[in-house]
Amino acid sequence: MGIAEVPSGAAIRPTDPLATIRAEIGDCTRCKLCRGRTHIVFGVGNPHAELMFVGEGPGADEDRQGEPFVGRAGQLLTKIIEAMGYRREEVYIGNVAKCRPPQNRAPDPEEIATCIPFLWKQIAAIRPKVIVCLGSIATQAILKTDAKISQLRGRFHTLPAKHDSIQLMPTFHPAYLLRNPEQKRAVWEDMKKVMAFLGRQPTNRIAEERGP
Ligand code: URA
Repeated sequence: MGIAEVPSGAAIRPTDPLATIRAEIGDCTRCKLCRGRTHIVFGVGNPHAELMFVGEGPGADEDRQGEPFVGRAGQLLTKIIEAMGYRREEVYIGNVAKCRPPQNRAPDPEEIATCIPFLWKQIAAIRPKVIVCLGSIATQAILKTDAKISQLRGRFHTLPAKHDSIQLMPTFHPAYLLRNPEQKRAVWEDMKKVMAFLGRQPTNRIAEERGP
């Protein structure tokens, strides 16, 4: 954002809420994941997105490039987004943990508790209509539940008080779909519910017939 002139002639810098959150994170050392990371993977996409995707945390490719969901699972996520009729840049993509856990393990509860307040701030700044939560780690962290993803997916959940206008749709993680392609159909059913809520038609007949 540029610098705006006010009548007095003083220069003011319009605030960019996401940039403010990123600045607050700084060169973070709040948890032990800082020791092994290359990049903090803040999040990417449209700051006014109606649709947001949230994963668990960066993998090796994301750590190297500083962008979420750019590896194999990310390529599948991009296909899902495009089959829903969006370009990747039109949605927002983030994670509950912003630094890569070693050996691709899931972020632990302490790491999630340290990092998730920044995700909540991003959600408050973007104010999407729908968040698609990818996999059990992200869904359990956001909904504060131990329930299994297989029990949670496929229906909308309401977020806690401050964010209760946002609908949350849990679904399987794209990395899980790479190992279990037969579950793509279930994810596509979940995404069709999101599209119906957002008034979107699938653009891709193949996706409609077979799942992305
Ligand atoms: N898996 C995730 O949960 N997030 C990423 O950014 C990449 C893979």
